[in-house]
This record gives sequence, structure tokens and C-alpha cells, in this order.
Amino acid sequence: MATPKTAKLELEGKVYELPIIEGTEGEKAIDITKLRAETNYITLDSGYMNTGACTSAVTFLDGEKGVLRYRGIPIEELCASSTFLEVSFLLIYGHLPTTEEFSKFREKIRYHSLIHEDLKNYFNNYPGQAHPMAILSSMVCSLSAYYPELIKADQTPDERDGTITRMLSKVRVLAAFAYKRSVGQAFVYPRNDLMYMANFLNMMFAVPAEPYEIDPVIVKAMDLLFILHADHEQNCSTSTVRMVGSSKANLFASISAGICALWGPLHGGANQEVVEMLEMIQKDGGGYKKYIDKAKDKNDNFRLMGFGHRVYKNFDPRAKIIKKACDDVLNKLGIHDPILEIAKGLEEEALKDSYFVERKLYPNVDFYSGIIYRAIGIPTNMFTVMFALGRLPGWIGQWKEMIEDKNMKICRPRQIYTGEVNRKYVPIEKRGS
Ligand code: ACO
Repeated sequence: MATPKTAKLELEGKVYELPIIEGTEGEKAIDITKLRAETNYITLDSGYMNTGACTSAVTFLDGEKGVLRYRGIPIEELCASSTFLEVSFLLIYGHLPTTEEFSKFREKIRYHSLIHEDLKNYFNNYPGQAHPMAILSSMVCSLSAYYPELIKADQTPDERDGTITRMLSKVRVLAAFAYKRSVGQAFVYPRNDLMYMANFLNMMFAVPAEPYEIDPVIVKAMDLLFILHADHEQNCSTSTVRMVGSSKANLFASISAGICALWGPLHGGANQEVVEMLEMIQKDGGGYKKYIDKAKDKNDNFRLMGFGHRVYKNFDPRAKIIKKACDDVLNKLGIHDPILEIAKGLEEEALKDSYFVERKLYPNVDFYSGIIYRAIGIPTNMFTVMFALGRLPGWIGQWKEMIEDKNMKICRPRQIYTGEVNRKYVPIEKRGS
């Protein structure tokens, strides 16, 4: 049946016609923009369970079918043949780069890697045990203080590109410095002779005492994980970036806010929580049945971390790729990690259990990603930082799309007020004890 042009809504005896919008993949929406002006009603949808906050041409995902495409290209193809930097270009500029476009893009990222020397001092003022996400989010915002020319609200396309490439290059340096600070080692400066990912790994793991060999297996694994994290349409952190950016706050402020949103254990913080959960199960003897029962118990706060997703009601396609990569990478690196066996057993057990089956709870992107990061030597508290670096081009692409939209509006949801109705102020001496 053809999609109707309008939906009819009957309210208080009157019928209103609301326009229907259809996306290129056949997703349908009822446009309620004018609903309040015409009816005095708003729509209520706590947690934005069923609210489209924007139209977007960046990423398509079908949670029922387990499909994820960046700018129309399936992630399976990008993971098999592309690199993180190429995917970054694709997400931000909407098409695969030509050789010339790509080499210019790469050059700019290579060239703008240094951070202001004074910024280094900030790192030393954080306590040694500070979570690297706390450092990263504040350092990204602090960057803006050193580049006042990059924070103008209305930038020309060239100025915007300048901000974007600096952001992509420098956040990686901040992340590596945050790590070095957390382990008490000297900062390693970016090296312009190295490609994006190798440069990052060198900043993370090189120490002055001995040369650091960049392992192509690790570069490839990191590239894969970053590609899989690169965008995921209007998730919590991306919506935060859009929300903050919609006030025309600069890109540094918007990304910093996105990093904070990602930190939560229900979002990007889950990759850290998964490995901590698996380690806990391992210490407890490796039996996962007890933990499945805990996850099902409504009186117990425990959840199976890395399981479930707001939009995937089928396998998260990213988890499928990561699970396979997990075996490959650990094999190639010659690592046997007992928590991988625990993860697989837990997954198998959960997928047979009616609680998880009925609620369509499958492993998500975070379930196996931490095991690869662990094999690479990245400490658990840096996992979410890795996620943030991977998600950066997605945040930027979504922010750019919004800022360039001539009809952009400041994000400002409404509410249904449930508090006290109008009442009088009573001075403190008359309030009693
Ligand atoms: N373990 C046990 N039960 C779960 C889990 C889980 N991991 N996830 C959801 N459920 C249950 C809920 O208790 C609820 O049960 P009920 O219907 O009996 O009340 C039902 O499944 C639906 O769950 P909601 O929390 O309502 O689903 P929502 O879409 O709001 O949440 C979320 C999605 C936050 C991802 C949730 O599944 C969760 O907390 N998962 C664990 C954390 C995690 O892995 N987060 C990473 C997500 S991926 C990402 O952000 C990159």
C-alpha cells in the first residue's frame, strides 16, 4: 500500500491532518512540528524512545534486520576494505574521497597534530588516578581556549574544515597524553612520518628507553574497532553533540559534551564494565549461570553489560564482526585470554534463555571490543576513550550536517509539568520547624 501523505489525528472532536515524512529507506514519520501551535498538545516520549530529532543523511540503521550503513555503504564492506581515516572522510563529507581529496585530508591531519605546549601542563595537574575520560572531555574543551580563531559561531566552509581536521588530529594526541599521565610516563610527541593509527599507537606505547615496534596486526585491529565505532546515528552522545551544537556552541564544546555523554555505563562506558564483569566472573570461578540469574532478577541491579540495545532487536551487526575479529586478533598475537571463553559461554547461555530471547537482548558492540583492546595492551579505564576516538568522525559529521542546515533550530524539548501548582512564598520565620 502506498504511504499516505498525511495522518489524521482526532482531538476534542476536531480532526487534524499531520504531514507524513518518508526517508530514502522507507522509514516513516508523522511530522508534529506544528501540532502544538494548532492543538495546544505536545507529544510525550520520555527517553526519546520513538522520537525522530532530525532528518539525517549520515548513517542508516535497521535495528530489526541488524543493518548498519555509513553514507549508504554497509559497515561489513568498510571493515573489509577501508581504513578509519577514509571512513572518517566518508562520514564527514558524505562521499568516498578521491585520491587527491584523501591525500589533502591526510596531510592536514598529519600537519595539525601538535597541541599548544602550555596544554601539557594541565595534564600534570590531574591526580594520577583520574579517569582518562574526565581528562579527555575537559582537555577537548580547553583546546578551544588556545584556538580562538576556530570557535567562531558562523564559520566559512574552509574555516570549518580547519576546525574539523585539527579536532581529528589533536584529540588523538590528548587521548594518548591522558593515558601517559595515568601511567606516570613521559608524553610521546606525535610523529609526522607515521600514519594516523600508527602515530597514535606510538604516542600511547613508545617509551624513551626502547624503540616501539608498530605491529600491523594491532594497527589493523584498531582500525577495525574505530570503523565500527565511527557513527551510530542519533545515539545518546551524538544527540548530545547536536543538542549542544544547536546553540551554536563551538565544535570543541559540543564534542566535549559528547565525550561526557559517552562515558556513562549504559552507553560507551559499557566496554569497560563488560571486561570488569568478565573478570569478576573469572575470579568467582568462571560459572556464568549465577550472573545470568542475577541479570534476570528484578530485585538485583546487576545487568549483563554488553547486552541489549535501544534500537537493535536482532544481532548488533558490529558485535558479529568484533566477535570474529576477537578470535583472529588473539590468535595472531598468540594470546589466550580466558575471559574470551567466559564471554562466549555467557553469550551462548544468555541466547538460550527465554528472558533474553523474549526481550530481544543480544550482545552489542561493547561485548567483545574490550577483549581486543585488552589484548592490544590498552588498560580497561582507557576503553571508553578508544570509543570516543572512534566516534569522533561520526560526531563531527552529524554536527556539520546540522550546522550546514539552513533550517537548523536550537534543540529545546518541551515537558509536561507535574509539580506544585501556583502557591505563595512563605517567609522562613513563618514556616515552622
Ligand atoms: N541485562 C539484563 N536485562 C536487561 C538488559 C541487560 N543488559 N538490557 C535490558 N534488559 C531488560 C530490562 O530490564 C527490561 O526488562 P523489563 O521489560 O522486564 O523491564 C528490558 O530488557 C528492556 O530494557 P530497557 O532498559 O527498557 O531498554 P532500553 O532500550 O531503555 O536500554 C540499554 C538499552 C541501556 C542498552 C540496556 O539494554 C542496557 O542497560 N544494557 C547494558 C548496558 C550496555 O551494554 N550498554 C551499551 C549499549 S551499546 C552502546 O551504547 C554503544
